[in-house]
Amino acid sequence: MTQDTVEFIHRFEPGADAARPLLLLHGTGGNETDLLPLGRMVAPGAALLAPRGPVTENGMPRFFRRVAEGVFDEADLRRRTGDLAAFVAAARERYGLGAPLALGFSNGANIAASLLLLWPETLAGAVLIRPMVPFAEPPAADLAGRPVLILSGAMDPIVPVENARRLAAQLTASGATVEHRILPAGHGLSQAEVSVAAGWLQTAALRSAA
Ligand code: MLT
Repeated sequence: MTQDTVEFIHRFEPGADAARPLLLLHGTGGNETDLLPLGRMVAPGAALLAPRGPVTENGMPRFFRRVAEGVFDEADLRRRTGDLAAFVAAARERYGLGAPLALGFSNGANIAASLLLLWPETLAGAVLIRPMVPFAEPPAADLAGRPVLILSGAMDPIVPVENARRLAAQLTASGATVEHRILPAGHGLSQAEVSVAAGWLQTAALRSAA
């Protein structure tokens, strides 16, 4: 890692399983506590690492800047993704953790997708809830064997299903093992995510644990 470490406000909750922690990445307007209950439900016993997005938009925390809804400031996204990768590496040392699986929602899912593409060694895999394609031109990445679950909403007004399909195709082309589920939901988190993500985490993620 060549990057200087940028400190993120974060919560760390130890768990019986430090080998496969969850990196919880909230959506726009959320914070480091938002996804702790979801993390506990989908991966009981996993250590939880939850940073707060360092950028604010009208007072709402985010992980990177955007020009408009769904239009990203790609230079800022690249820089913030490097900062997050450095934070994860430092937190692994500090807390004695294995490579995490990301569990990201919306803006958090988008930076998780960016981490996969730009810093593929940072994550053991990812659950991406309502993500979209982070870069107009996908960076080349080697994601061989990384399991990724994408959960899209069929009625999502922010992310067209076609966009999420493109992300699934980009990650698959980089070697990830992608499962893309399209749920009868909008952009918001639904109860369905809990059981789908929990079931997937128990099977696909553990199978590929490295
Ligand atoms: C983003 O900016 O990451 C996406 O538009 C999703 C959102 O945060 O609303």
